Amino acid sequence: MTTETVTALEAQHVLQTYKRQPVVFVRGEGTRLFDADGRAYLDFISGIGVAVLGHAHPGLAAVIADQARTLVHTSNLYYHPLQGQLAARLSALSGLQRAFFCNSGTEAVEACLKFARRFWYSQGVTNRTAYVALEHGFSGRTMGALSVTANAHYRDPFGPLIPGVTFVAPDDIAGLEAAVTQSTAALIAEPIQGEGGVRALSPEFAAAIARVTKTTGTLLIADEVQCGLGRTGHSFHYQSFGWTPDLVTVGKAIGSGIPIGAALVGEHVATQIFAGDHGTTYGGNLLSTRAALYVLAQLEALKPHIAEMGTLFEQRLQDLQRQHPVITSVRGAGLMRGLELAVDAQPVVDAALKAGLLVNRTAERVVRMLPPLTVTKTELEEAIGVLDGALASVKVEGSTVEMRA
Ligand SMILES: Cc1ncc(COP(=O)(O)O)c(C=O)c1O
Repeated sequence: MTTETVTALEAQHVLQTYKRQPVVFVRGEGTRLFDADGRAYLDFISGIGVAVLGHAHPGLAAVIADQARTLVHTSNLYYHPLQGQLAARLSALSGLQRAFFCNSGTEAVEACLKFARRFWYSQGVTNRTAYVALEHGFSGRTMGALSVTANAHYRDPFGPLIPGVTFVAPDDIAGLEAAVTQSTAALIAEPIQGEGGVRALSPEFAAAIARVTKTTGTLLIADEVQCGLGRTGHSFHYQSFGWTPDLVTVGKAIGSGIPIGAALVGEHVATQIFAGDHGTTYGGNLLSTRAALYVLAQLEALKPHIAEMGTLFEQRLQDLQRQHPVITSVRGAGLMRGLELAVDAQPVVDAALKAGLLVNRTAERVVRMLPPLTVTKTELEEAIGVLDGALASVKVEGSTVEMRA
């Protein structure tokens, strides 16, 4: 199959909800992807923060193959040996007692939104149904998750969404204090806003969230789908704020490509949730939990490496900023990084692709990078070299960027 035949078939039969880059990937190895013409790319987006162990990881491949030969799926009608083990592992990492397993980050968000309402309803408090979320926040595209996602472009065609959601700007402490009341079921926040432009919450604002949720009794949902599980060097990024969330969403990294998500639930919330309140056919099946157990074991061992690579990455991106005034800020933490530009980021992303580096544009002016957590020093240096060239190949004219040649 050629690039042309693949794209032509999709154009006819795949619903056109994605604006794909014109490249067909057929194989991966570590931080590299290979296209249909055999060309290699350095993958600094890793399936949007998913392939944390890199591509075609031999150990992960072996456990998936072994599990596939043994038993893949039985449903949640019965027990199997792995869900409890994975839940216990996530509990040790987060301090939250229980896990509900699902298949994606969005489903983890949906579960947390439901569990928050159920928490109040179970106690006879029927007027605490509202949510507070943050401007620039992204939590998914289903009706509930979309209702707490800020971007009007994603929301507007699908209204009315669930009522009672107030959005607060991530620096507006007074706005936060006004929005979170005795009617709020839960506040949901990403400790580092990924889609919103790799924006970390400021320590002051993070502290204000902890304070107002505590004083009003509002449940705190930390959306760790993108920034969690080692991405920033912490098991969960909320731990760097000293938060004790009531609910935590997990996705992306946990399966390193095998679809699985989880809602982590504090025991005080868990006691208010009962059999039949929520469910899913696939959630936590043997294949996905086996993969996740393997990934979590690897992540623990990778933490010192992530810390070292994260520091190096930040330094090199700051070097780039000194050389390219079009970079207005270097954002993020660990191996979750964004270069905010004074202009649209797409020409830089396109130039990087042409030079064999995969990064992506988010929030219009941000080049986002989420490399595998196994990325090496040599690969980081190579990516910085390509970005240097990509930034040099565009010139700033007013508020637009044009390719030079
Ligand atoms: C913070 C956050 N929450 C939720 C989601 C939705 O996850 P998924 O696309 O796996 O359903 C995303 C996806 O990018 C995300 O970044």
